[in-house]
Amino acid sequence: MTAKIIDGAALAREKISELKQIVTSLRARGVTPGLATVLVGDDPASRVYIRNKARACEQAGVASIHHDLPASASEQDVLNLVERLNNDPKVHGTIVQLPLPRHLNAQCVSQAIAYEKDVDGFSWHNLGALMENVPGVVPCTPRATMAMLAHAGVPVESKHAVVVGRSVIVGKPAAILLINAGATVTVCNSRTPDLGAVTRQADILVVATGRAGLITRNMVKPGAAVIDVGINRLHDGKLAGDVAFDEVKEIAGWITPVPGGVGPMTVAMLVENTVSAAVRAAGSNR
Ligand code: GUN
Repeated sequence: MTAKIIDGAALAREKISELKQIVTSLRARGVTPGLATVLVGDDPASRVYIRNKARACEQAGVASIHHDLPASASEQDVLNLVERLNNDPKVHGTIVQLPLPRHLNAQCVSQAIAYEKDVDGFSWHNLGALMENVPGVVPCTPRATMAMLAHAGVPVESKHAVVVGRSVIVGKPAAILLINAGATVTVCNSRTPDLGAVTRQADILVVATGRAGLITRNMVKPGAAVIDVGINRLHDGKLAGDVAFDEVKEIAGWITPVPGGVGPMTVAMLVENTVSAAVRAAGSNR
């Protein structure tokens, strides 16, 4: 069997063109959705991600305003900028790109973003809403994961989902979304003893560890849906996921490629979260 490839790039293009229509009607009412992006320091991977986010905003007609701070910026410098963005009516969403330089407390910075503008969905307000399964802003990569499963027609309810990774950006919220969708969920990590014995039980396998090629063919149940969240830069400069794509695609039912899988869809979800924040702000100003 050869897996169906879930084309995240194509799906993201569709999503962005849908959003463009919504943005066009918002702009006709005098509201231009705005995303503020903040990069502290000059991490090359972060700069690429920020550029991709700005490009997707532009394609959807969303204004993106980028702020660079030097790697030497103090926590107060970052907090001052976040506060300024919290008070700027043209900004509907703010993201501070992670990771931050080591002397800065990412949790403190993320929690300083007003929850109405928290389009990453990292605020405790929004994470709490996710936990309670009530409306809120859902983190972009886990949303992308669920959107790709839905698009591919992968059943989730009553299935066994295994999430490898426990970050607050991906692993934990992905597990909660899968729980909310009725799956039986196991969460493990790259150090779980006999990881393959767990991952082989998965009807849906979500992998977000940042370890290239961690998941090999013998760790995947035939016919499983495999969502590869990893983006790893190899020594030769190429990008690879956490899943050994060439061998796993021979056995999986569905698989997402890297690049061109979860990454572009994550960016589209960020644009959607920003547009939704602008719609809410416009509604509350009437
Ligand atoms: N770094 C890696 N993924 C993300 C993300 O989704 N949001 C932010 N702000 N930083 C990240």
